[in-house]
Amino acid sequence: MGFAAMNRLARKGCVVVAGVRQQRDYDKVSAVPNVFPIYWDITNKTSTRQAVATAVRLSKEKQLRLIGLVANAGIGGVWGKPLEWYRDEEFEKVITTNLFGTASSVMEALPYLRQSKGRVVIVGSIMGLFAAPGTSAYSSSKHAVDGLASSIRREVHGLGVSVSIINAGCVKSSFFGKTAEEEDTLILRNKSEPAYERLLDAAVKYNYAGACDATAGSTDESSDSIEHALTSRYPKTRYYPGTAFGLPARLTVFICSVLPTRLLDLYTAYGLSLQHWILANSWMQDHEQSFEERVSKSLSKSSKP
Ligand SMILES: NC(=O)c1ccc[n+]([C@@H]2O[C@H](COP(=O)([O-])OP(=O)(O)OC[C@H]3O[C@@H](n4cnc5c(N)ncnc54)[C@H](OP(=O)(O)O)[C@@H]3O)[C@@H](O)[C@H]2O)c1
Repeated sequence: MGFAAMNRLARKGCVVVAGVRQQRDYDKVSAVPNVFPIYWDITNKTSTRQAVATAVRLSKEKQLRLIGLVANAGIGGVWGKPLEWYRDEEFEKVITTNLFGTASSVMEALPYLRQSKGRVVIVGSIMGLFAAPGTSAYSSSKHAVDGLASSIRREVHGLGVSVSIINAGCVKSSFFGKTAEEEDTLILRNKSEPAYERLLDAAVKYNYAGACDATAGSTDESSDSIEHALTSRYPKTRYYPGTAFGLPARLTVFICSVLPTRLLDLYTAYGLSLQHWILANSWMQDHEQSFEERVSKSLSKSSKP
């Protein structure tokens, strides 16, 4: 989503300072006109300070107004994992990246954005409004980010800074590939510890990440939202690009807000398995990989010393 938004903004004539972590991304981003890559790890304060300082220096050198910060970086962690199977460090990494990393980026940029009357655009998630089972680390991080965005928005009210949150549903990106790897290990674990069989069927066997990927919206939608939040005269406080449960995210948010919580609990307990089974089957066909193949791949990996 970040790369697509960066391309869009650069094409529209904005100068973009883009945070990257890998040489390959540095090279890819350097090739885009109007874009300046910088190595940036949002969990490292010094790195964040340097990134913000670079953007401020560039804007001064080029006599450009600092338009805003897009806090997009985030990780999914493992999906489909019951809370009691988490290791502390696994959970902490998601919170540190998604919550602390975002808060820390805004902290550093805000003094300059107040001067330039700029914008803060935080990429949250629909999971910050509706928590899916098996995503406790990710959902709680994005709920916290949602609170963060609302709190900052009210703090800077009247100071000329606009704060928007992008409550993205599923959007095509490399995100789902990153969450998928450990799912196979979870399937195996479930065979020896069946308490969470239903959850794992819904979330893992029928492939949460695959189901989301199969129905995900285009990055054009998320770029539209980010561009609007940054440049429109009347930015919205919330945007809902992408899909959720196979529907436009905005519609899913509305349905979730009117249905009784217990009914939604029932749906996530039983309906999700069926829905993921349908969606993920088509995903697996596209990826020419059956559930059995995934398990045997995972078994051979875990039997290696
Ligand atoms: N795709 C979706 O359906 C979806 C839905 C809702 C919300 N979101 C949110 O959208 C945002 C962008 O995700 P995406 O879908 O575009 O996935 P993505 O392609 O995986 O992008 C996430 C980016 O964050 C970077 N990142 C991760 N940890 C970082 C750190 N410590 N410091 C600096 N950068 C870091 C990643 O860098 P590396 O490539 O080096 O790891 C990657 O460039 C995330 O906040 C995600 O939670 C995505």
